Amino acid sequence: MKSAKIIGIGKYLPKRVLTNRDLEKMVNTSDEWITTRTGIKERRVADKNEATSDLGLKAALDALKDAKIKARDIDLIITATITPDTQFPSTSSIIQSRLGAKKAACFDISAACSGFVYSLITAQQFIENGAFKNVLVIGAEKLSMAIDWTDRNTCVLFGDGAGAAVVSGSKKPGILSTYMGGDGSLGNLLMVPAGGSRLPASHETIDKKLHYLKMQGNEIFKLAVTAMTDAAKKVLLKAKLNINDIDCLITHQANARIILATGKKLGISPDKIFMNINKYGNTSSASIAIALCEAVRSKRIKRGDIVVLDAFGAGLAWGACVIKW
Ligand code: UT7
Repeated sequence: MKSAKIIGIGKYLPKRVLTNRDLEKMVNTSDEWITTRTGIKERRVADKNEATSDLGLKAALDALKDAKIKARDIDLIITATITPDTQFPSTSSIIQSRLGAKKAACFDISAACSGFVYSLITAQQFIENGAFKNVLVIGAEKLSMAIDWTDRNTCVLFGDGAGAAVVSGSKKPGILSTYMGGDGSLGNLLMVPAGGSRLPASHETIDKKLHYLKMQGNEIFKLAVTAMTDAAKKVLLKAKLNINDIDCLITHQANARIILATGKKLGISPDKIFMNINKYGNTSSASIAIALCEAVRSKRIKRGDIVVLDAFGAGLAWGACVIKW
């Protein structure tokens, strides 16, 4: 059986930078509060006419170039997003058409901040069972459209961006072990209440600002640390590795304090933890993909390294995987 290996990665960040200082002029906040409580210094915001597929497409092109394969050789496109261009068709279908990836099947995955890890694990299943050879996995978000820019509790945290990976069948080891978990009973801690079949868009939902992201940050914080610690331990055990075998840990980038607390609970040395939250904030489905791309391109991850990807987010949904790079 062939293993599923990432053979190319890519990213795209919108050009516009929104700094903490800019936010000071918009809501009652401070650079000091945001920096010390979250580790975020700035984030990217897409243009009004830039949709999630525009970000995802650019990350995908970057990943295809890195993998040195053509769009026509892609068998399946999975886009992880909670900010799709439209309810349907899928954002993957829109990207497929623009890439000219004519033979690719397409669907999206909605697993919020765990979206990229969930999509990677999904790609692995199709590759290891022999159904597909090359899968394009994209994590892309335009979260700025789902943010209430008058709510200081949430507007300082999120950003837009996209990352992508080409996953292919390989004789060399790639994804070594995986784990996925969830708890739907806590779904109300982080959600966009309206816009779906429960509360379709109406004048009332708009007046009540129900199309914006709502989060009980404090509760989510504690659950994130526990779940990501547990998920990382589970995948290490499955791969018959221990904490000292990890060369690089990339968790979902939601809050530097969550990332460091998870690292501390795991007992991993802080220099093995990759973080770029200072530059981009929380980009949900895109965050781990962008971080992985930057860790590889800056040589923080080298061929043969053991990398753990560890995610947590709305759903609640969480998951992890061990990769031999
Ligand atoms: O991506 C999926 C998962 N998402 C996460 O993992 C996010 C998890 N949560 C967090 O990262 C943190 O809980 C936050 C960053 C959201 C908040 O940090 P916290 O240390 O948990 O603060 P808090 O919610 O306990 O709020 C402390 C205070 C409050 O004031 P009072 O009630 O103590 O007077 C807030 O009103 O900080 C206030 N506050 C702010 N102050 C200045 C909240 N947001 C801001 C702000 N600027 N932007």
